[in-house]
Amino acid sequence: MASTYDLVLTGGTVVNHDGVGQHDIGVRGGRIVAIGAIGAGQAAETIDAKGLHILPGVIDSQVHFREPGLEHKEDLESGSRGAVMGGVTCVFEMPNTKPLTTSAETLADKVERATHRMFCDFAFYVGGTRENVDDIPQLERLPGSAGIKVFMGSSTGNLLVEDDPSLDRIIAKLSRRAAFHAEDEMRLNARKGERIPGDPSSHYVWRDEEAALLATTRLVGLAEKYGRRVHVLHISTAAEMAFLADHKDWASVEVTPHHLTLVAPDCYERLGTYAQMNPPVRDARHRDAIWAALANGVVDVLGSDHAPHTREEKDHPYPDSHSGMTGVQTLVPIMLDHVNAGRLSLQRFVDLTSHGPQRLFNMRGKGRIAVGYDADFTVVDLKRSETIDNAWIESRAGWTPYHGTRVTGWPIGTIVRGHRVMWDGELTRPAVGEAARFL
Ligand code: DOR
Repeated sequence: MASTYDLVLTGGTVVNHDGVGQHDIGVRGGRIVAIGAIGAGQAAETIDAKGLHILPGVIDSQVHFREPGLEHKEDLESGSRGAVMGGVTCVFEMPNTKPLTTSAETLADKVERATHRMFCDFAFYVGGTRENVDDIPQLERLPGSAGIKVFMGSSTGNLLVEDDPSLDRIIAKLSRRAAFHAEDEMRLNARKGERIPGDPSSHYVWRDEEAALLATTRLVGLAEKYGRRVHVLHISTAAEMAFLADHKDWASVEVTPHHLTLVAPDCYERLGTYAQMNPPVRDARHRDAIWAALANGVVDVLGSDHAPHTREEKDHPYPDSHSGMTGVQTLVPIMLDHVNAGRLSLQRFVDLTSHGPQRLFNMRGKGRIAVGYDADFTVVDLKRSETIDNAWIESRAGWTPYHGTRVTGWPIGTIVRGHRVMWDGELTRPAVGEAARFL
């Protein structure tokens, strides 16, 4: 007799819109078809999830996977291996590759490279530029597009729209929510003298709170002018959080695990240039303000901003060292450790990594454990303690700023549309990644 389900997860504690409770989950054709008590023997495959928590698949809405053109740092396959080893089921990837993702052709090329080669599902941001502004309405809506991303301050690569008239033209064209790296390029240029050669702790002196606030204020002003929705990436300052709390009509807010976890000056003393990131990790006043905004709901999503660079690139003396650190694989364990330490609830974590991206970006079929949705699950053991190690990191970069960090809470399984792609540290092939769909 044919099985009723392709897969049943039994006995796990499910965290979803309904709260936290023990339910079995039945999956057929890659979708959730039943939640409740499901008898034994009805499934082709059964996963015993007793003692484990089943979360909606974690969506990391900011990663840099470097393909095409920068594959010595990462590629779509290695980056997605890191994602699923860390419990992440879907990523939104950034356009600062070589060539830049700024056209229908470069987007289609990424989608083709990624399909069934990436281990998780994916969407790709398209860089907004002065040159492609007239194409934005079309670029936002292409298959596999996560929408438009704009760098207002320069970081890795040369995607940059620093001036208000150009930003104005881009924002006027938007219909989907678009994502912004908000640091004021003019202020960054004027303050380059603040960088002390050989001293990465001068990075956050150079790229200061005012540079971030200026850009965020300019951005939200334009969003308000046109009634557009903007997603302000990796917010790193107390001042921006205070401002954004008053502008939630237009602006959604992302924070990163590293801005919540690392703190200056300690991180620069311990990690040197390996803590160098844009926008920078700052002092405890800012970290505490980010936690407060996470607690009071101003923060909408968590993104890792996984930005791998090789050791050789990180080992150049500051300021020639590259900005960025790996993060997609450590997002879940680092944040579950914060859950265990009582800094956020498990439900808030799910709100930030599943419901949040679904809500902001109008994702179809993802972000919830509900009948009819994709069978994407992040299965975690909240009690398991592990020490994060460079050797565990799948990224081509081969390092993590959390090397040697003991955490409690660990991803045990990653299930993508009913496929068990990772279980207890073992990867299952072939890769099943497909483009996420949006309304
Ligand atoms: O530190 C960073 N590195 N910040 C960014 O915004 C870009 C990223 C990268 O691509 O390396």
